[in-house]
Amino acid sequence: METKKICLLPGDGIGPEIIAEGVKVLDAVGKKYDVAFDYEEALIGGCAIDAVGNPLPEETLDAARASDAVLLAAVGGPKWDTTDSSKPRPEQGLLGIRKQLGLYTNLRPVRIFDALRDASTLKPAVVEGVDLVIVRELTGGLYFGHRERFYDEEGAGAHGGRGQRAVDTLEYREYEIERIARQAFRAAQSRHGRVHSIDKANVLDTSRLWREVVHRVHDEEFPEIELVDMLVDNTAMQLVNNPRQFDVIVTENMFGDILSDEAAQITGSLGMLASASLGDGVGLFEPSHGSAPDIAGRGIANPLAQILSVGMMLQYAFGMVDAANDVTRAVSQVLDEGWRTGDLATSATPADKVMGTVAMGDLVARHIAG
Ligand code: IPM
Ligand code: MG
Repeated sequence: METKKICLLPGDGIGPEIIAEGVKVLDAVGKKYDVAFDYEEALIGGCAIDAVGNPLPEETLDAARASDAVLLAAVGGPKWDTTDSSKPRPEQGLLGIRKQLGLYTNLRPVRIFDALRDASTLKPAVVEGVDLVIVRELTGGLYFGHRERFYDEEGAGAHGGRGQRAVDTLEYREYEIERIARQAFRAAQSRHGRVHSIDKANVLDTSRLWREVVHRVHDEEFPEIELVDMLVDNTAMQLVNNPRQFDVIVTENMFGDILSDEAAQITGSLGMLASASLGDGVGLFEPSHGSAPDIAGRGIANPLAQILSVGMMLQYAFGMVDAANDVTRAVSQVLDEGWRTGDLATSATPADKVMGTVAMGDLVARHIAG
């Protein structure tokens, strides 16, 4: 039997609860397809700060590098919130592992499950048939630019005055834009052939470079793909106005972070949005939502984004396309049968159809089997 090594990073908050359901589904897939998944758990985020004082311990990176794929749940929580930039933060673990593993491509598919049309805050007629993917650049831009905070002795301008000053730097290099553009055009080739490239080229120099490079890659390598430039503020509006116009959205790190939360809400809940972070080596798969500390430990978290991330792992890390489709189908079926976690329930959902994290994972795993 084939063996795949999976590095599990449960992290904080609801992380341990939802990752257990992801593992349950993986085990069901393993049984069906005769593959053994071998798990190694490691620390990341707040729990790693508590245990060893570092949100990304070296052993965690080693375990990730030695695996065939990394499954991550979520990091962060109020316990570690601080505005003191000299203190460690859980998010540094996540950003660190993205950078260290060279995971420059983040795929966030947004699709409507038929059964959830009414769960969205948007009208069913607007969200029906939405099927898009956000291709977010993940290792550059503001997230990784030079950062500084200092006391300005001189002050400046009319309001002048001495005081604290903080700087974050937005920087992009040509090769970073080139490679993410290629990923977006390739994604479009296997989808509906349209890419919206999102920038703020009316203001930012990084965006002007972005636009030039995306167009060059398009013209030289992917002329058959339809390419549309759209400014980020307009995109924020278009996503709620007419989300069906989008097929592939490619954008820089920070814009992608913001637009993907917005796009997730089209599906009814951020609890449905899976993601794959890919580079040239091992890939990392995680839900796009956070650690939801307010509901942690109560057994009510929605595990579906984690489970759908397992589906992306099967597809992208292992090329197990049938198994990946099984996961999506199983989730669809469970929803079609009317089952909901609390975040997906509407006033029309019968109380006896609302279930907790474990029951939802059980149900999806059972549907994988057949
Ligand atoms: C995401 C998250 C992270 C990000 C946070 C937790 C650092 O919001 O994956 O979208 O901003 O990238
Ligand atoms: Mg985010």
